[in-house]
Amino acid sequence: MTNSFLIHAIPPYMIHVGDGVFAELSVKKYSQAICCVDERVWQSHEQYIRDVIKDMTVIVIPSGEKSKSLDKYQVIIEHLLKNHIDRKGVIIAIGGGVVGDLAGFCAATYMRGIDFIQVPTTILAHDSAIGGKVAINTDVAKNSIGAFHQPTTVYYDTQFLATLPEREVLSGFGEICKHMFLDKHFYDFMQAFPDLAVAEENIETILLHSMQVKQKFVEEDPYENDVRKYLNFGHTFGHALEQISNYSLSHGAAVAYGMAFAEYLATPIGIREMLINYGLLTPLQLDVDFDTVYNLMKNDKKSVSGAIQFVLMDVIGHPYAQVVGESELREAFDNWRMEYLV
Ligand SMILES: NC(=O)c1ccc[n+]([C@@H]2O[C@H](COP(=O)([O-])OP(=O)(O)OC[C@H]3O[C@@H](n4cnc5c(N)ncnc54)[C@H](O)[C@@H]3O)[C@@H](O)[C@H]2O)c1
Repeated sequence: MTNSFLIHAIPPYMIHVGDGVFAELSVKKYSQAICCVDERVWQSHEQYIRDVIKDMTVIVIPSGEKSKSLDKYQVIIEHLLKNHIDRKGVIIAIGGGVVGDLAGFCAATYMRGIDFIQVPTTILAHDSAIGGKVAINTDVAKNSIGAFHQPTTVYYDTQFLATLPEREVLSGFGEICKHMFLDKHFYDFMQAFPDLAVAEENIETILLHSMQVKQKFVEEDPYENDVRKYLNFGHTFGHALEQISNYSLSHGAAVAYGMAFAEYLATPIGIREMLINYGLLTPLQLDVDFDTVYNLMKNDKKSVSGAIQFVLMDVIGHPYAQVVGESELREAFDNWRMEYLV
């Protein structure tokens, strides 16, 4: 069954979710279309994708966070130019958050902006495909070059999820858990799916609810001037860890460690216990010291004049933002390190 809903953005766009929805892709209104496809998705689903996109040009994007780079940005832009894609053309992003963010950023900037269609293929991308944030990384900071550029349509075809490795399932649950902590209704709903095994069996309905939490935040505050910053729960510390691990740690796993870290800065409300139930927060082998984390966290987008702002929570569904000083962060880091580093 297909579920469809409208995101009230400027311009508004439809999200279609279900087994086989990718086959409904329509590019009739465009002069030309070009597909950016994640390498692993291409390996596992080439025939299925070809049946839908027919003779469109395909750019295969190497798997992994390293592809969110200026180099890959340039490769795609040159493809667009060589294929004479004009302002009425469209880019189709088929993959996880990496391809979505990269291809979306190309669409945001090519000829001052062309349309793009998101075809998310990971659990985590239920989050990244909504809200219009697109970005690439630099060596200094993650997502440091970016834009707001809404997709024109999202086709979330759950058929792609069948080939998702366990590591990526867990990563997706990192962002699902974040939405669960941010929204008491979703939190209560998730009590029926208290562990990973049960939750995985009900993934489609969980994704729909989780997307609606994201929808609520981005519709209320599309350009992150206010409540949308709460979606960064777990990300200040999480992004730093991702970088320190040289991206060997998945995004969602890093966010989970980041939410655990944030809980050391506030009243404990069972966040760590729930993350463990969903297979997250396993002992981590990583060479990490406080000073490196601290310096990376200063580059967080929420920091102002070097003061690091954290999203914290004392009650489920009631996040708040707070500047946290170095000594408090050091103490939280020591607690975090004792619990999670081997
Ligand atoms: N724009 C936003 O609002 C937003 C929100 C959250 C996260 N993000 C970004 O999303 C990125 C993480 O996204 P992700 O977790 O989807 O990572 P990803 O795109 O790197 O995909 C994870 C891995 O799964 C593989 N893969 C993807 N789909 C597959 C499938 N169906 N079958 C088999 N393998 C598959 C990929 O090749 C990759 O190895 C990060 O860069 C993060 O910053 C963006």
